[in-house]
Amino acid sequence: MTKAEVCFVGLGYIGLPTAVVMANSGLQVVGLDVNAKSVERINRGEVTIVETGLEEALKQAIDSGSFRATTEAPEASTYILAVPTPFNADHTCDMSFIFSAAESIAPKLQGDELIVLESTSPPGTTEKMAERILELRPDLSGRGAQSSGLRFAHCPERILPGKAMEELVSNDRIIGGMDEDATDRACKVYASFCKGQLLRTNARTAEMAKLTENSFRDVNIAFANELSLISDELDIDVWELIELANHHPRVNILQPGPGVGGHCIAVDPWFIVAASPKNANLIRTAREVNDGKPDWVLEKIRKGLGVSGDEASISLLGLSFKANIDDLRESPALEIAHRVAQEFPNRLVRIAEPNISSLPPVLAQFENVELVPPTEAIAQSGVVVLLVDHDEFYGAEKNIPDSATVIDTRGIWRKW
Ligand SMILES: NC(=O)c1ccc[n+]([C@@H]2O[C@H](COP(=O)([O-])OP(=O)(O)OC[C@H]3O[C@@H](n4cnc5c(N)ncnc54)[C@H](O)[C@@H]3O)[C@@H](O)[C@H]2O)c1
Repeated sequence: MTKAEVCFVGLGYIGLPTAVVMANSGLQVVGLDVNAKSVERINRGEVTIVETGLEEALKQAIDSGSFRATTEAPEASTYILAVPTPFNADHTCDMSFIFSAAESIAPKLQGDELIVLESTSPPGTTEKMAERILELRPDLSGRGAQSSGLRFAHCPERILPGKAMEELVSNDRIIGGMDEDATDRACKVYASFCKGQLLRTNARTAEMAKLTENSFRDVNIAFANELSLISDELDIDVWELIELANHHPRVNILQPGPGVGGHCIAVDPWFIVAASPKNANLIRTAREVNDGKPDWVLEKIRKGLGVSGDEASISLLGLSFKANIDDLRESPALEIAHRVAQEFPNRLVRIAEPNISSLPPVLAQFENVELVPPTEAIAQSGVVVLLVDHDEFYGAEKNIPDSATVIDTRGIWRKW
C-alpha cells in the first residue's frame, strides 16, 4: 500500500468507527492497534464493539480497499490518536497510552505530518505529546513545535455510543490546532466526512471544551441524584417531583440513577479537578455525589433482604453504564453487582444483561453469581434491582412476584 492519507492509532469505540467513516468518505485509511487479535478480526470484517451500522460500513471499507488494520505503524500524512486516557488512583490523567502511541509513530515521521489527538485529555496534553515526539525526533524539531514542519492539533470526540455512525457525520467538531496552520490542516481532514460545523480554536481550549461538556452533564446528573436521596428521606416520589418541576419553562432536571459511569462523564471532570484543585469545588462535589450513589443502592438492597428473608436471592437487571449498550467501563451497575456478590456469598445473585453473552471476569469469579435471561431474573428472586433502563426491562415489572422487594434505580417501573 502507498503512504496512507490517515493512520488511526487505537481502534476502539472511537477509533474504529471514525476510521471506517473516513475510509468510506474517500480517504485511504490504516488503523493501528496494539491488540493483534482485534486487528485480525477487524481485517476479517468482524466488529470488536457493538455499534449500529458499523459492521456493514467496515465490510464496505475493506472490500473497497480503502481501509486495513495493522499492528505495525505505517507512514501516513495524518495520524489521529484515539487511545485510552484513564485516570490514575489520584484522579490525574494516565497519559502513558498517548506517549506509547507517540513513540510508535515517531520513527515513521518525515517532518510534514499532521498529528491529531482525539483522546479526551487535560489542558496542555497536545503540547506534551508534541514535546515527546520532538524529543524522539530532534532532527524534525526546528526550534520546537511551532517552527517544525510537523503540525499538532486536538479534535475531541463527542459521539453517543450506539449512534456513533450517524453522529460522526452530523455532529459539530471542535478543531484546536497548536497554530493556525495545524487548525487549517485538521479542518481539511475532518471536512472530508463531517457535515457539522468545524469550530476553530486552539488546542488547550479544545481540550478544556470536551472536559467542560462532560462536567456539565456530571454536575446536572449529580443534582438529580442528590434530589433522589433527599426525596427518599422525605418520603417524596423523586420521579414525580422532577416531572412536575420540569413543567417550569426554564427548568430541565435530568434523571437520577444508580450513579454515573462510562469512560467519559465519570472520568473527565476529575481532569479539571486535578488541573485546578483550588477552584473546581462544584465539579469535585458532583463527582463525589455521583460516586456515592452505589452506596445508597447497596443500603436499599440490605434493607430489601431484611424484609424478604434469609433465603432470598437477588436479581440485578443491567450491568452496562447506560441503556442499550454493552459497555461496562466505570459502570456503577457493575460496581453494585460486584459489591453484592462479595457481601452476600451465600445468596444466589442472578444477573440479566441482554447485551453481553458472558459475565465479566470481576463477576465470573463468584460461584454465587449467574448470568440469566431477563425473564428468569425478574420472576424468581426475593429482591429485584433495576440498574439499567434497557429496552428489554420496560413493562417487565408485571411479572415480578408480589412477594419480591423492588428497587428501581431508573424509575421505569415507578415502584420505589
Ligand atoms: N467511548 C466513547 O464514547 C468516547 C467518547 C468520546 C471520547 N472518548 C475518548 O476517546 C479515547 C479512546 O476511547 P475509546 O472508548 O475508543 O477506547 P477503547 O479502549 O475502546 O479503545 C482504545 C484502543 O486503543 C488501543 N491502544 C492502546 N494503546 C495503544 C497504542 N499505544 N497504540 C495503538 N493502539 C493502542 C487499544 O488496544 C484499544 O483498541 C479516550 O480518550 C476516551 O476518553 C471516548
